[in-house]
Amino acid sequence: MLKFAVFASGSGSNFQSIIDATARKDLEAECALLICDQPEAKVISRAKKHNIPVFLFELKHYPNKVNYEQAILEKLQQFDIQFIALAGYMRLIGSTLLQSYERKIVNIHPSLLPSFPGLNAIEQAIEAGVKVTGVTIHYIDSGMDTGPIVAQQAVKVCDNETEKTLQRKIHAVEHVLYPQTLATLFQTTGEASTST
Ligand code: GRF
Repeated sequence: MLKFAVFASGSGSNFQSIIDATARKDLEAECALLICDQPEAKVISRAKKHNIPVFLFELKHYPNKVNYEQAILEKLQQFDIQFIALAGYMRLIGSTLLQSYERKIVNIHPSLLPSFPGLNAIEQAIEAGVKVTGVTIHYIDSGMDTGPIVAQQAVKVCDNETEKTLQRKIHAVEHVLYPQTLATLFQTTGEASTST
């Protein structure tokens, strides 16, 4: 079974939806570990509750980002991790991880990229007055939310929408779309590794 890691920095509702999908076997892969960079993040308790090993890597404990990512990479290799799903991981992935996991790292972003990249995408959409925004799952490259798009789903922005109400709608879409998209991607990854 394919082994993957989730990287997260915050609440971890997407992490929860992914591990729930593995428990239901809608996602037939093993979430073998959680990488987190924030000691107080709620996602840590979610992982512990489900007996998923958690590894905390704080950038400030390393001389630079290359060393930081090398330490993460060693952990991923130790666990035979084949794929990485970023779920609210608030850091750009650097060359060390990108080179080792080329086309094997995806991210979920709360807008229809290329609109509203970067931080506060939901707030940006409300401020821009768009009537439709959404969710994007994309491969990671060296840019900020610029990698090739894998899946998207639109979310309507109603009149009088607030950041909070829109966030709730976006999260509801994310929690279905991310596990489904990972299932499709993992199937392709599995087929590729058995066809050689
Ligand atoms: C999600 O909205 C995701 O699109 C963005 O960060 C948020 C993470 O939320 N990248 P959660 O921690 O999964 O609840």
